[in-house]
Amino acid sequence: MLSFDFSQRVAVVTGGGNGIGRAIATCLGAQGARVHVLDIDLAAARQTAAACDGIAVRCDVADAAAVRDCFAAIGRVDFLINNAGVVSGPGQPFTNNTEDEWDRTFAINVKSIRHTAAAVSEQMRARRDGRIVNITSITGVIAAPFMPPYSVSKSAANGLTRVLARDFAPSGVTVNAICPGFVWSPLWEDLGEVMAQSSGGAQGANAREVFQWRIDSLVPMKRAQSPEEIAATVAFFCSDGARNITGQVLSVDGGVTI
Ligand SMILES: NC(=O)c1ccc[n+]([C@@H]2O[C@H](COP(=O)([O-])OP(=O)(O)OC[C@H]3O[C@@H](n4cnc5c(N)ncnc54)[C@H](O)[C@@H]3O)[C@@H](O)[C@H]2O)c1
Repeated sequence: MLSFDFSQRVAVVTGGGNGIGRAIATCLGAQGARVHVLDIDLAAARQTAAACDGIAVRCDVADAAAVRDCFAAIGRVDFLINNAGVVSGPGQPFTNNTEDEWDRTFAINVKSIRHTAAAVSEQMRARRDGRIVNITSITGVIAAPFMPPYSVSKSAANGLTRVLARDFAPSGVTVNAICPGFVWSPLWEDLGEVMAQSSGGAQGANAREVFQWRIDSLVPMKRAQSPEEIAATVAFFCSDGARNITGQVLSVDGGVTI
């Protein structure tokens, strides 16, 4: 059972309306943080906010101006959790993905981190305190040729994590990334369907069966990762004990990337 004292702390969780983001918001809220749940889907953000006594905000994190306005309204932020992300469609060979698909995936999975980090940069540096945690992916550590824009965008997000960590380091602000492995969520409900239609080994299966097939064939520990396990790692990075950890890219994946 986690136990951190995050009372007096303000957190922002992007993409907090579903899946991993909802678990992160709920976990930080349970430790006492005031949580702002940002999502492009306001109804979903409201459901999460109701569960963690937080505040729901509609925000498209790929829109730099919208992010700026949104963070100006929020004010103080102690913990910035960049979790919003989208998968790209099947792309094997890589020429299957359109330029628009590459641009959209990069806008949401990479440039959004630049927008949100820029929005908190001045205040966190001035206080010499703050935590930024980016939820990236094991596909940013090992190649996922099934979805090139997604895999490359998550590599870039891991790279951006290191660049931001160096940039913020003198001010005591930490920046780390967590790479989830296989987490059952609305993202996987959609991805499983797509894989069932387009991947040889998965034809005829339903999304949940595709998910289990990937775990059986790729995860050494033979188990899925839960949203709560990703949230627990976020809480650790936000805790006082992690104040000397920065620029790290940590896989929570049952051993996939060993
Ligand atoms: N589920 C997995 O197995 C898995 C594995 C590795 C990495 N991840 C990463 O974890 C993060 C969360 O994944 P999830 O499985 O919970 O996904 P999800 O699709 O269940 O939830 C993502 C949330 O982000 C929101 N969102 C999408 N675009 C947005 C935008 N432009 N602005 C604001 N919000 C937006 C969606 O509305 C949704 O609520 C993503 O970055 C994803 O790439 C997930």
